[in-house]
Amino acid sequence: MTRKRLAILISGRGSNMVSLLEACRTDGFPADPVLVVSNRPEAEGLSRAAALGAPTRAVDHRAFAGRTAFEAELNRMLDSSSTELIALAGFMRVLTASFVKRWEGRLINIHPSLLPAFPGLDTHERALAAGVAVHGCSVHHVVPEVDAGAVIGRASVLVHADDNAETLAARVLRAEHLLYPRCLAAVASGERLSLNEIVAASGDPVFLSAPA
Ligand code: GRF
Repeated sequence: MTRKRLAILISGRGSNMVSLLEACRTDGFPADPVLVVSNRPEAEGLSRAAALGAPTRAVDHRAFAGRTAFEAELNRMLDSSSTELIALAGFMRVLTASFVKRWEGRLINIHPSLLPAFPGLDTHERALAAGVAVHGCSVHHVVPEVDAGAVIGRASVLVHADDNAETLAARVLRAEHLLYPRCLAAVASGERLSLNEIVAASGDPVFLSAPA
């Protein structure tokens, strides 16, 4: 089996990136991390990636005149590592339609809600305000419209009566770490994800599913 050359794009702490890098170290995993890029040079995730042996680069978006120039440099880095597949993992820059189209079908993201519910920011606050009983995260293909691409997999958790945005975010984050490697493996291997599983994360049930 050939392993897909994987780049992971981050902006911050990189906990999802760690879950992907750790999965890549397991036998038979169909992706090989060739590059971790952060648009923030100070991102904590860069040192975590280096500690796990991944090549790291920073490309500070503030040093560029606009998105097109920033993405040109990003593409240069991705191409110089012969990237085949990109996983966004807490990457906080909106990508242009032209970048997204160039990587169409090879660019995935994790979002902290059960899409199509709650696209955009502040998902946990909005889920609590809406009074939902179940919340979670989704891995999806990236399309030019933000958080609108085809869903690859979802992980659902229960909302507790005494939750606040922080406690709910922490429960969803544990679910993210379970979901993202499974979805990445499916995309990297070209197999359709078949997922219908309940697992426990720190005592909480997490229901992993893939759209039919
Ligand atoms: C995660 O909640 C992810 O879903 C969202 O940004 C957060 C990144 O966290 N896109 P981390 O950097 O992976 O810890």
